[in-house]
Amino acid sequence: MKDFIKALPKAELHLHIEGSFEPELMFEIAQRNQIAIPYKTIDEVKKAYQFSCLQDFLDIYYAGAGVLIHEQDFYDLAMAYYQKCYENNVIHTEIMFDPQTHTERGIAFETVINGLQKARIDAKEKWGINSLFIMSYLRHLSEESAFETLKQSLPYKDLITAVGLDSSEMGNPPSKFKNVFEVSVKEGYIPVAHAGEEGPTEYIWEAIDVLKVARIDHGNRCLEDENLVQEIVKRDLALTVCPLSNLELRNTDVLTNHPLKKLLDKGIKATVNSDDPAYFGGYMNANFVKVQEALNLSKEEIVTLVRNSFNYSFATDEQKEIYLKKVNEVVNEINS
Ligand code: HPA
Ligand code: ZN
Repeated sequence: MKDFIKALPKAELHLHIEGSFEPELMFEIAQRNQIAIPYKTIDEVKKAYQFSCLQDFLDIYYAGAGVLIHEQDFYDLAMAYYQKCYENNVIHTEIMFDPQTHTERGIAFETVINGLQKARIDAKEKWGINSLFIMSYLRHLSEESAFETLKQSLPYKDLITAVGLDSSEMGNPPSKFKNVFEVSVKEGYIPVAHAGEEGPTEYIWEAIDVLKVARIDHGNRCLEDENLVQEIVKRDLALTVCPLSNLELRNTDVLTNHPLKKLLDKGIKATVNSDDPAYFGGYMNANFVKVQEALNLSKEEIVTLVRNSFNYSFATDEQKEIYLKKVNEVVNEINS
């Protein structure tokens, strides 16, 4: 099964680039930028990665991102993630980045996007990886701040495919960002949002009815409302599920209780993703392997999950066809 998972070409639809910041690279960049971090050793960093909820994690995640200053830093961060994509057979990835995490510290929007864009070009050339960018608004900040970010992004509009909504969910419902999402869509961005990770089912309803998202990030808690489940199926909305993230942030007590299989059984188009792999203990293959073991998923279910990721990606229909053919080739080869 492990070899089967490894051999399958995969797409990742839910990944925060700041969440792929491995401690080794964090130390290196902190040192060259002469920024003090509150850890002496890599072991100390890893020990700090024990979370009891989303906010616990976010505090550490934002502190880590604080050492990123120059375009080269964002380039190095992204290249390290693309290398992991190559190692995990991820051939298409949709990368979220949080501009406000950096602009709030006085780093220019262009520094961030230029570093990411250079890495995207080099990763395509070096490993053949296709990727697109999702600019995520921080929901603990105001809608006005999101509008400011939207404005800053417009000169780089051609480099960005979608807008997202992340950070502290409780108390920051999707409806808080109704206007900025409306304008973002008018500017050509596809809307997605984190909803129902920690937040209640009402937040998922708002994400689909008020923000009119094309995909739901996490969405696990939809299972608490059968009408919502039916609506998600009817509207053909995919969920970007992140098993190891859910475990590490205590949204599931043990992986054997993870809702992934239930979601599939309900007819929901679920996908598997790594979210913040440097913090949650694993990239794409690890997420697949651990959730497969815990839920005893069949090869057919694994292939369904992999196909869902390509089908519900924001790639062109032409590109999707090429990807799905590649998946079929590997499946046929293994079955023959
Ligand atoms: N949830 C919400 N916001 C985030 C996450 C997450 O898992 N990762 C980075 N920002
Ligand atoms: Zn996320």
